[in-house]
Amino acid sequence: MTAEMTGMDENRLQCIATASFGTEGLVAGELKRLGMKDARAENGGARFSCTAEEAYLANLRLRCADRVLIILAEEECRTFEALFRLVSGIPWERLLTTDGQYNVSGKCVRSQLMSIRDCQSITKKAIIERMRSRIGRVAFPETGVAFPIEVSLRQDIARITLDTSGTALNRRGYRTWNGEAPLRETLAASLVELSPWRPGIRLYDPCCGTGTLLIEAALRAAHRAPGLNREFACDAYPTFRLVDRQGIRDRLREDIDDSRIGDIAGSDIDPEALKLALRHVRQAGLNGRISLSQERLQDLQLDGEPGVFLCNPPYGERLGDKKECEALYADMGGLLRRHPGWKLCAITSDPMFERFFGRRATRKRRLYNGRLECEFLVYE
Ligand SMILES: C[S@@+](CC[C@H](N)C(=O)[O-])C[C@H]1O[C@@H](n2cnc3c(N)ncnc32)[C@H](O)[C@@H]1O
Repeated sequence: MTAEMTGMDENRLQCIATASFGTEGLVAGELKRLGMKDARAENGGARFSCTAEEAYLANLRLRCADRVLIILAEEECRTFEALFRLVSGIPWERLLTTDGQYNVSGKCVRSQLMSIRDCQSITKKAIIERMRSRIGRVAFPETGVAFPIEVSLRQDIARITLDTSGTALNRRGYRTWNGEAPLRETLAASLVELSPWRPGIRLYDPCCGTGTLLIEAALRAAHRAPGLNREFACDAYPTFRLVDRQGIRDRLREDIDDSRIGDIAGSDIDPEALKLALRHVRQAGLNGRISLSQERLQDLQLDGEPGVFLCNPPYGERLGDKKECEALYADMGGLLRRHPGWKLCAITSDPMFERFFGRRATRKRRLYNGRLECEFLVYE
């Protein structure tokens, strides 16, 4: 794929919504549901083709993806000359402003071009030379809008991207304080998606901490686009100038229906975590829609309709000690036995979880919580 064929192909953009290991298929599914063309999962995310308007919509609506990048060029490069040529072929003069900050980051994995710093400086030099050749000998003060550009080499394939999201998409804007071991919002949304819970079914998190799983489920049930309370890097890009960004946001606001949230509740042993959860619920605009209480999982007894327990218990790696965690996993087994008809899902990095829980999971999925390899276990 050469520069002229990719990111700036007439009115269509080639994009990748990046995602953490194990969630790429979920992101491809989200893109398909949003009606994005040619959406398909690959390592590290899901590709799709779209208009600038659709790329903006993807930033606002994707729940499980980390960022939306425009792929500007992609080609085999084994020499710096080849990389320079590839970058020079991109129509930067249409993408960037002359006063912008061209922030080039880099990545090199199993490639002949191994020096990340050299790849970054070659890329930047090629950008400036292309701009000068098209616009003239202007100064580049680098005081304006930030353009996060990445040059990534993987097995000698160079890919040049422009990040449309800026701050990663997990930063929805509702979490201003992190508890001790919070779950990233995008991972929480992925777990909600992987669980058997769907809007209308009862949901309970017995170790809710700062409330991320419950908030992500409520946002989904209410059709609240997760990016509505934040801005994106592309708000200031020339490519997005003609996009009716306010109109798109207004339409998404009209879609919100909080009456669909249903019975979503949680508890935690720690009153400080619950204070943060309450604050986050409020900041997510969900005040009064999620019930929270201070309770030990061991004492929990819920009456009424069965539903789904979804939780992120301590793993004994970052919080608490191993023995206590193992006892808690056994108590989780007890919780499920005390609640016939309920299902339970948990994410854990402890390979012995099932043994302590007392039962093998019905299904499992390997995922990463940050750098920690984990399993998402579903008991149905
Ligand atoms: C990994 S954190 C959960 C983080 C949460 N998903 C979030 O996004 O903030 C685990 C939580 O389990 C809670 N916890 C530990 N033992 C518990 C128990 N016996 N009963 C209820 N909650 C417990 C801790 O207080 C902590 O908030």
